[in-house]
Amino acid sequence: NKIRQPLVAGNWKMNGNSALVAEFNEKLEALNCDAETVVCPPATLMHLFRANSFSLGAQNVSHLNNGAHTGELSVEMLKDAGCTYSIVGHSERREDQQESSGLVALKAKQCIEAGLTPIICVGESLTVREAGNVEKFVGEQLDALTATLSVDDLSKAVIAYEPIWAIGTGKTATPEQAQEVHEFIRGYFTKVDADLAGKLRILYGGSVKPDNAKTLFSQKDVDGGLIGGASLKAEDFISICQAAN
Ligand code: G3P
Repeated sequence: NKIRQPLVAGNWKMNGNSALVAEFNEKLEALNCDAETVVCPPATLMHLFRANSFSLGAQNVSHLNNGAHTGELSVEMLKDAGCTYSIVGHSERREDQQESSGLVALKAKQCIEAGLTPIICVGESLTVREAGNVEKFVGEQLDALTATLSVDDLSKAVIAYEPIWAIGTGKTATPEQAQEVHEFIRGYFTKVDADLAGKLRILYGGSVKPDNAKTLFSQKDVDGGLIGGASLKAEDFISICQAAN
């Protein structure tokens, strides 16, 4: 009974193979839930997905158009491969590929202009949290977005709050910790545009599992999740999708 339709996206990261896609094609065929669902596999597997009970998303995208950019994938290519979403600015890319918040904003802009929905990731490290700087840190990540994206652009985006200390660690943020930051993020956008803030979907990511999904998703400002490890198991992913009903 949420104002915003929940969204659950699975981020396979650098995992999976054709056998896993075959299993997903079979097991998710009958997936029927109120939440919108997305699977973001490695690009090499995209063409193997058949099920139409969920959408396809990329894990990253270039901020540039087709051309001489070795190793990159453009929005045009991702759309051609059947994607309607792309994750941008995941903390693993911010760290491994030194992606700046400015670059993340450009990638989001590139997606929006092409009609792909960006799932823009933000979130703090444990050091930042322990120093009491969560809002300052996340606020600065959001400042970089609002510097590049208009209100209309932002209305076509999804935000994912992923505290780095909860990613792949089994340490989930408590529902209260998640709600606190989600409320801060929604409040931030309220100052930009109240209508936008009311409609903006903000996902939680970080050790979401079938047994904690329901409580997390029932928080007022949590509109679904971005799921890593548990999205690689069809049964777990299905039950997390259903928890967002
Ligand atoms: O993007 C999803 C993510 O980083 C969370 O990963 O394995 O903690 O669910 P995981």
